[in-house]
Amino acid sequence: MKFFIDTANLEQIREAADMGILDGVTTNPSLMAKEGIAGKDNILRHYAAIAKMVDGDVSAEVISTEFEGIIREGQELAEIAPNIVVKVPMIREGVKAISKFTEMGIRTNCTLVFSSAQAILAAKAGATYVSPFIGRIDDTNWDGMDLIYEIVEIYANYGFATEVLAASIRTSKHIKDCAMAGADVVTCPLKTIEGLFKHPLTDIGLEKFLADYNKLNG
Ligand code: E4P
Repeated sequence: MKFFIDTANLEQIREAADMGILDGVTTNPSLMAKEGIAGKDNILRHYAAIAKMVDGDVSAEVISTEFEGIIREGQELAEIAPNIVVKVPMIREGVKAISKFTEMGIRTNCTLVFSSAQAILAAKAGATYVSPFIGRIDDTNWDGMDLIYEIVEIYANYGFATEVLAASIRTSKHIKDCAMAGADVVTCPLKTIEGLFKHPLTDIGLEKFLADYNKLNG
């Protein structure tokens, strides 16, 4: 299972890359805004900086919602670097654009997916990745993980090549459950990745090992 970091913050990307476990980056317009990145040139420059920091894929999201605009924007984003993946929303015009990008050899990430029916459309259009949002479904009092199990099963039934990129991840349990479900990728904030390290018995065990060593070795 690949690990992507879900941020536009360069320091956090560097920190995750330094851990040696980072396979890529996802961003969205809200994450870019959080970093104060505004204006087309700055946005393109920021994506270029991120793309240089990692070997893996970097999802850069379009803002347009009509076909021609999505294609224009997507081509510009794809030209930034070979590891840029164009992130396109799950809307009618978006699916049409993903299909066109597939023909053009431009890789895509279909975002804002909340049902397996939508995920079928993304795969049919040839999306490289599909991004189901687990946490936002949980927020509606439903179970976001059900969606991951469904999509993984449907894609396996038909041998769809689209990779399941579990997004809107909030907890270590989400990550473990995604691994159990067979998701290809999880994208999470740095804090959630760091949460994976934690177990009280590890801390207690290490403290005891060091104390025992120090008893004899000073
Ligand atoms: C990533 O591709 C998504 O945009 C992101 O995971 C959404 O996460 P959120 O629901 O925490 O905003």
